[in-house]
Amino acid sequence: MKTLKEYASLTQTRLSQLIPSLPENAFEPGEMPALLAESMRYSLLAGGKRLRPAMLLAACEMLGGEIEPALDYACAIEMIHTYSLIHDDLPGMDDDDMRRGRPTNHVVFGVGQAILAGDGLLNMAFEVMLKSALKAGSNIEKCVRAAGEIARGAGVTGMIAGQCADLYQEGREDGTEEMLKFIHEGKTMAMFVGAMRAGACLAGADEKALNAVTEYARAFGLLFQASDDVLDIIADPALFGHSVGKDERDGKLTAVSVLTLEGAKARVETLLKEAVCALEGFGAEADFFRSLADAVAHRDH
Ligand code: IPE
Ligand code: IPE
Ligand code: MG
Ligand code: MG
Ligand code: MG
Repeated sequence: MKTLKEYASLTQTRLSQLIPSLPENAFEPGEMPALLAESMRYSLLAGGKRLRPAMLLAACEMLGGEIEPALDYACAIEMIHTYSLIHDDLPGMDDDDMRRGRPTNHVVFGVGQAILAGDGLLNMAFEVMLKSALKAGSNIEKCVRAAGEIARGAGVTGMIAGQCADLYQEGREDGTEEMLKFIHEGKTMAMFVGAMRAGACLAGADEKALNAVTEYARAFGLLFQASDDVLDIIADPALFGHSVGKDERDGKLTAVSVLTLEGAKARVETLLKEAVCALEGFGAEADFFRSLADAVAHRDH
């Protein structure tokens, strides 16, 4: 088992190889335009905690799989996550000008290019996974299952569904706990579930192990978004790398708006217990996930 930093560094190296830096102003037939590569790299390689790829790799390793063939799937989920952030920050969505500690993609490259950088990352994620599956020989079914889990987490019943509800609810007075649950399960939890189930599929995990990692990822994902909502109120923007106080100004339905700040913090603690509980059937091989949940619950950025 590796540390978050080690998984993040493996992911970073592969991501940088998958989207190389290209000569300026190059529009070569059949090649990715240099401008597109630059805007994709700008957001993708800017930092970020790399939680989803690390959790995919750690789940795979914990369940007896190998890291090397899983790396393409780890990169794919980080590409999809980064696309979701670029689009989330657009003026038509949350209209944010800071992300990962630097100006957002659309501030630097313009709205049109930012939309394309997101589209490019999403498409490339699937190209990378398909190419990898075709190289996997007899493991192809595990790969297709893993890609399917990632597609489901990112898709119209997952992340996109949550983003749809988040925007629909913005500025409305009729928010409920059920709607909050729908938003958090969709926009955030689904990608964590997809990441861990993909890692488990690559390892060839059985149903029991798949259920356990799903339980953990569900509690972790909800914990993560509740703590993001808390940080939107109390974080230091320089450390958080993102605007603070904007959810309230935008009239977002958040854990804080529904449960109060104290209630949201208490929810984080309850979900932390649930996440740890889901790992009961595992021994020391699950320590990465125990300490990750604790660190995320008590993070300041
Ligand atoms: C931000 O995710 C979007 C949410 C789901 C709240 P992260 O906080 O994981 O973003 P990075 O990848 O570290 O930038
Ligand atoms: C966005 O949630 C989750 C995504 C799918 C990108 P938020 O809008 O709360 O994320 P931040 O606070 O901008 O990172
Ligand atoms: Mg948003
Ligand atoms: Mg946002
Ligand atoms: Mg937020």
